[in-house]
Amino acid sequence: MFGDITTNPYHLETIIRSDLTKALRSLVPEMLEEARLAIPEHLQMTDSVTSVSIPVFPTMVHLVARVSNRAMIGAPGCRDEKFLKKQVSVAEEVIPMSQILNWFPVFLRSAVWKLFCVTVGAKDDAVRLVSPYVQSRIEYAQQVDPSQALDNPNTITDLLLRYAPEEDIKDVTKLAVRVVHLNMAAIHTSGIFTTHALFELARMPPQQVQEIRAEITAAIDSEGGVCNKSAVGKFYLLDSLLKEIGRFHSLFAVGSSRVTLREAVIADGTVLPQGSVVAFAPKPLHHNPQVYNDPDTFDPFRFAKLRRGDNTAHDIQQSFTNLSNDYIVFGIGKHGCPGRFFAALKIKVILSELLLSYDIAFPEGASHTPKPFAFNIFTVPNPTAKLVFTKRTV
Ligand code: HEM
Repeated sequence: MFGDITTNPYHLETIIRSDLTKALRSLVPEMLEEARLAIPEHLQMTDSVTSVSIPVFPTMVHLVARVSNRAMIGAPGCRDEKFLKKQVSVAEEVIPMSQILNWFPVFLRSAVWKLFCVTVGAKDDAVRLVSPYVQSRIEYAQQVDPSQALDNPNTITDLLLRYAPEEDIKDVTKLAVRVVHLNMAAIHTSGIFTTHALFELARMPPQQVQEIRAEITAAIDSEGGVCNKSAVGKFYLLDSLLKEIGRFHSLFAVGSSRVTLREAVIADGTVLPQGSVVAFAPKPLHHNPQVYNDPDTFDPFRFAKLRRGDNTAHDIQQSFTNLSNDYIVFGIGKHGCPGRFFAALKIKVILSELLLSYDIAFPEGASHTPKPFAFNIFTVPNPTAKLVFTKRTV
């Protein structure tokens, strides 16, 4: 589907796995600035408007796309609406299509995919639209002192350039494909979490929402009034809310699928022949009463209450991004999501800005989140469900 990115996945092996996580410190101010600019625009909030009712999921997906791309390609590319719309539609078309392809015999899949691309063309369009911005990062990297660009990257594309082979730098399309691919992994997943969080915040007793706000404000104050990476790292209640969302609202019925390369015997003695496809089902794991107390109750502060406040391994295990056999929202093992630290920071930056600036409530007459929308193994929030955002005066 995406050329040589599967045979030479340098954008995963070297960049996302380690460098991106190190670079997050310098990317947080960029994302924060973008969130502050983008939120009123996406909520369609003007000086004369104090309250709006908007469909949350599509709005959050587009907001996340913009904030993510501030980190991915920088400004002004992250504000190019034509590119962002195409990038969002790539995932919306390619992911269902990848499921549909499974219905065809292997020998027909390539032809069906090509036909799909000719008729829809979303991926190619997104690559074409992002290419000029990727090209400008190539030119920037060629002008500045390389150590400066590497130590303080302005964008994830700057990191990508560090490892790109010469032929990818000469042919901007090859790098652009990797940006589109990373965006596909980054946008909808984070948009789903942001949306669930807003519906949960609307459902919560006001006292609990106030506790989250107070903790955010205290964390920012503790960093001299600056919302930097360290401050976001102290948003424990928000972190707990996100982790509980991942536990409670499964994104997929089965995930982290793997193929056995040789015969394997699992703990209960079952023999898996070579070539078996195995996958994990999050729901039974995430609702296991031996691990989670009262597992069928949504408790936003469940994981915050388990923290001891000493920042030891025990506390780290309670965090949203921690991988474990009992919590597989980000997968598990070697292929566990490498973008999870970036995702968590981005979602927290967006949610904290929304929480500090707006009151969030259900529209009149509605009191619960409408049923999510399920397709094949995936479940996403209902795309038409609305919330009301009202400017806060304090
Ligand atoms: C809340 C947001 C996110 C969720 C829930 C999520 C979830 C996942 C899951 C379940 C996997 C499969 C892991 C496995 O097979 O064991 C995965 C893989 C991956 N994710 Fe994420 N992800 C999120 C955000 C991101 C972001 C922001 C990025 C990139 C910037 C990203 C990049 C990737 C990549 C590149 C892989 C493939 C890793 C590999 O095959 O080795 N993800 N993600």
